[in-house]
Amino acid sequence: MIREMRAAIFDLDGVIVDTAKYHYLAWKRLAHENGFDFTEADNERLKGVSRVRSLEILLEIGGLTVEDAAKEKMAAQKNGWYVDYIQNMDVSEILPGATNYLESLRSKGIKTALGSASKNAPLILKRLGIAGLFDTVVDGNKVHLAKPDPEVFLRAASELNIPPVRCVVFEDAEAGVEAAHRAGMGVVGIGKPAALKEADMVIDGLYQLEVVAGG
Ligand code: G6P
Ligand code: MG
Repeated sequence: MIREMRAAIFDLDGVIVDTAKYHYLAWKRLAHENGFDFTEADNERLKGVSRVRSLEILLEIGGLTVEDAAKEKMAAQKNGWYVDYIQNMDVSEILPGATNYLESLRSKGIKTALGSASKNAPLILKRLGIAGLFDTVVDGNKVHLAKPDPEVFLRAASELNIPPVRCVVFEDAEAGVEAAHRAGMGVVGIGKPAALKEADMVIDGLYQLEVVAGG
């Protein structure tokens, strides 16, 4: 249920920026190098999930068992490719409506936070020059428990000093929707309703939203 919103917490990949495709390409490349395929449907299971957990799911899909040292190497290899892909990102990869919606929330006194599992979040925000749109940034470098654990969103609420019940999360991943609900927050799903059945409402993108004054 979504109540009066005093803070908005945004996932990064697939909500603010179009990086989900680069994560997918890098994981697919790792799968191919290891002799198996990785489809877009498989990729839904990795959205919002930490790097280490994503690798475990990928290996499970490929039916591979590997030692910890090899896992570390694979995760580093995937991240190297991913970082290469995002080096050339520009503001055109900010998703439609994201900047406007954030600016509009802030102009109405609603706090904004980033709540992402990504350790690359600071690099992306800096590259695109959008760090200033968030009152606080909570990313994979700050939290220990990955979504669907609610830690990332609870920490954002606490840093903003807003009770969780007055926060709304914007998420494109099933794991993130579950994390938001476990934090006691309302959640707007971004993407296809079929993939985000538990969200309180689902929209195609932030461009569909307008900030309503008052309350
Ligand atoms: C986000 C993405 C995931 C990604 C995770 C960790 O939640 O949706 O696909 O695996 O962040 O990102 P990182 O950039 O630290 O590998
Ligand atoms: Mg996401």
